[in-house]
Amino acid sequence: MNKPTTTYTFADFRARYPDCDGFQVLNELRQQEYRRLDQQGHVYLDYTGGGLYPDKLVREHSEFLRKTVLGNPHSQNPTSLASTHLMQQARQDVLRYFRADPQDYTVIFTANASAALKLVGESYPFQPGSHFCLLADNHNSVQGIREFARHKGTRITYVPLDPHRLCCPDLRPYLEHWDADKPNLFAMPAQSNFSGVQHPLTAIELAHELGYDVILDAAAFVPTNRLDLRVIKPDFVPISFYKMFGYPTGVGALIARRSALAKLVRPWFGGGTVQLVSTRADLHILADDYEAFEDGTPNYLLLPAISMGLRLMESLDADRIHRWVMALTGYLLEEMQALKHDNGAPLVRIYGPTDTSARGGSIAFNLMDPRGEFFPYQLVEKEANTRNISIRAGCFCNPGAGEFSLDISAEDVRRCVKAATVDGQFDVNRYHECLGSKPSGAVRASLGMVTNFEDIAYFLNFLATYLNRFAPNIAAKAPTC
Ligand SMILES: Cc1ncc(COP(=O)(O)O)c(C=O)c1O
Repeated sequence: MNKPTTTYTFADFRARYPDCDGFQVLNELRQQEYRRLDQQGHVYLDYTGGGLYPDKLVREHSEFLRKTVLGNPHSQNPTSLASTHLMQQARQDVLRYFRADPQDYTVIFTANASAALKLVGESYPFQPGSHFCLLADNHNSVQGIREFARHKGTRITYVPLDPHRLCCPDLRPYLEHWDADKPNLFAMPAQSNFSGVQHPLTAIELAHELGYDVILDAAAFVPTNRLDLRVIKPDFVPISFYKMFGYPTGVGALIARRSALAKLVRPWFGGGTVQLVSTRADLHILADDYEAFEDGTPNYLLLPAISMGLRLMESLDADRIHRWVMALTGYLLEEMQALKHDNGAPLVRIYGPTDTSARGGSIAFNLMDPRGEFFPYQLVEKEANTRNISIRAGCFCNPGAGEFSLDISAEDVRRCVKAATVDGQFDVNRYHECLGSKPSGAVRASLGMVTNFEDIAYFLNFLATYLNRFAPNIAAKAPTC
């Protein structure tokens, strides 16, 4: 029988997760600082896409701006020095938040995680005989680094995913037998932005042992997990701050180990990155440390808001946030899997871990009808929109996890690219039509620090509206990827 919607009660949730301690502090924060969500009837479940800011962060920052005079930091005047001081403060705050030893790590401010990744990709000293190895489960902004590697004659190897948990093959065979004296780079996400799976961070040590520098993409991990850089020592850690505390957008960072940063070779210079440029002698000498990587005028008015956001995160405690989000995720996973059509067929197919072990609060799934036919993920998104539920649909810029979970082979891709290319023009909608009855994308619900039980219950009730319905036979449309 269909699950009556009234079974989703907070009492039931508390009974199942009695030790979960986060809800008082985080629910209070939600009530006080995020009134706009409930006033406007939003159910926001796209925290991996973007975090939401508390009112007080915007207030504190705008009050600060209203009483401060800040100038371009590339000068030595009083307003410039004030900006420089605040930027240094923000840099220290980032290192402190991630418990990074300043002797060992430095912080380069960027526009976002993608820009941080591009900095590494374009500057890494790839060469013929070196190796770029990456998990298939990576965001496109990591995938793109392969193009820099390819142009320099570097071999590229993808590590495939186990199709059930979308995780953790034995990495050793992929990483060993390469020339450890060459510059070799390994890239993995700490948490998949597709399935939420958390890849074992022991991979970092193994890759180091085998002669690799390591990119740990922490963009989807740090909003609800503690990253302690005293314990693990990746070389490059890209993050976006809006994913952590929602404000401001347009600021990210590359947290880089100084020893690895020293290996990078910048392919250009620009304002702020040089000690000396001569047009007559045609030479330039780059600035030291992070300065060589921060192109042009930094976002100096917004950087103080990073310090404020990190203080907020510190006061909330990353471990508490994690426990709260995982309790809600556990409940949601259990209840999604309990949704069955009257004929006993499951409604939900989850991609990646189906319980809370080694995962975060992102759940990728598709809905199936009583015959096992998939509801188009676009339809689910559209119907969620009518209920003011913000979820994500498509492949979330993570083509590798998409291909492994949806069983799209290299042959499928080649065949359908060919079928969809007419007169040299590629038609992405035709491509997805060519994939046929296979879904070419999924739906993602991702939880954040101020998700509450009501959001989850509302979402489950929405999913329950698909029980005993039949999937329409409509043509697939391209995912937004
Ligand atoms: C794991 C991961 N890496 C990188 C990115 C890129 O972040 P941004 O778009 O802020 O550059 C994202 C964004 O969703 C992500 O989830």
